[in-house]
Amino acid sequence: MSSHPRIKTGIIGFGRMGEMYLNQMLKSHQWEVCAICDTDPDALAIAANLAPSGTILTSDEQVIFDDPRIQVVVLATLADFRKRHLFKAVEHHKHVITEKPLGSNIEEERAVLDKLGDSDILVTVNLPLRTAWYHKTIREFIDSGEIGELAIVRVCHMTPGLAPGEGHWAEGPLFHDCGMHYVDIAHWYAQSDFKTWNAQALRMWNYHEPWWLQAHGTFQNGIVFDITQGHVYGQLAKDLTHNGYVDLIGTRGIARMNHDFVTATVELHGVTRTQVIKKPFGDKNLDILCSLFAQSLGSGSLHPDLPRVRDAVIASEYAWKFLEDAGKHDMPARGDLHTLEEIRERRNNKRIGYGLLRRKKKTK
Ligand SMILES: NC(=O)c1ccc[n+]([C@@H]2O[C@H](COP(=O)([O-])OP(=O)(O)OC[C@H]3O[C@@H](n4cnc5c(N)ncnc54)[C@H](O)[C@@H]3O)[C@@H](O)[C@H]2O)c1
Repeated sequence: MSSHPRIKTGIIGFGRMGEMYLNQMLKSHQWEVCAICDTDPDALAIAANLAPSGTILTSDEQVIFDDPRIQVVVLATLADFRKRHLFKAVEHHKHVITEKPLGSNIEEERAVLDKLGDSDILVTVNLPLRTAWYHKTIREFIDSGEIGELAIVRVCHMTPGLAPGEGHWAEGPLFHDCGMHYVDIAHWYAQSDFKTWNAQALRMWNYHEPWWLQAHGTFQNGIVFDITQGHVYGQLAKDLTHNGYVDLIGTRGIARMNHDFVTATVELHGVTRTQVIKKPFGDKNLDILCSLFAQSLGSGSLHPDLPRVRDAVIASEYAWKFLEDAGKHDMPARGDLHTLEEIRERRNNKRIGYGLLRRKKKTK
């Protein structure tokens, strides 16, 4: 048991992610959630069942910003309130763990970046792939020279996950909401800025926004990439499956990873070493995020492994650019809205699917 005082925190937005932060912080001896804010009374009712007695439950975010005990705010509403909450965090001098994206559009995100530039609060963004053990293992392997020069970065994430119209409307089309994680990890591997790109998308089930997108292109340093992302992967199949991998191809060897959301398998094929490593997947890695952020507060500067606001803004900006590029090309539709209704019914009423949002008690 640590003798250090716990870090006092307020969570704003108590949906799927807000609940995950609470559960993580309840498990840790470093954190204490003093207050939870949500504008939805149903969400606060769920919080009342999970949070220790004495936790302030409020629909007024100002209660959290005005509480002098609270050092850190966790921002887990949808993106439409992010800029306002980040600006308030600066004004009230609260450190921040925030969900992505950092605004509902790139202008808001740039405004956040500017505002934070003049401030001394610590802010990290939940881009969990950056702290995942499998990506760190592969990066170390690449840095050791085992695959020669990194040349090709391939990333794929296709699951029967969040269906069109289920929620997250403020985060933009799927390739922005979820795809920005894969844009970010490609950028992280290449360690260079995006230079050129082409994107192709599909409007699955005739939904008005694309729900599958593939982008390929180059980085400034000559590395090439392809990123495929879609929650269009057999939602009505008897048994659900998915396809998530990275494939890093060098001039001499390769490193790759795939996972089944339970176990991740890393396969390293270098010039002197071949190794297969299987370990628990880790999901959102909130344990690592919270632990590194606690260390950062202790040292006064953000831990180098933690994602920064700039990383999230770049990922968001290029996810938008790839969507915009796809919009300039033929974007066919396949399937119909009736099939989408069947998918929603199976996911939301039968609770079968990946990445299910919390069930709403009331229909609004
Ligand atoms: N980093 C990741 O891997 C990851 C994964 C899933 C979701 N997310 C992000 O997390 C955020 C939340 O997603 P979610 O799945 O938890 O959504 P959700 O819809 O389950 O939860 C959002 C909650 O915020 C509340 N809320 C909305 N506006 C509010 C306000 N002004 N003040 C207080 N509460 C407010 C809603 O009532 C709801 O309870 C989204 O921005 C999403 O992009 C990130």
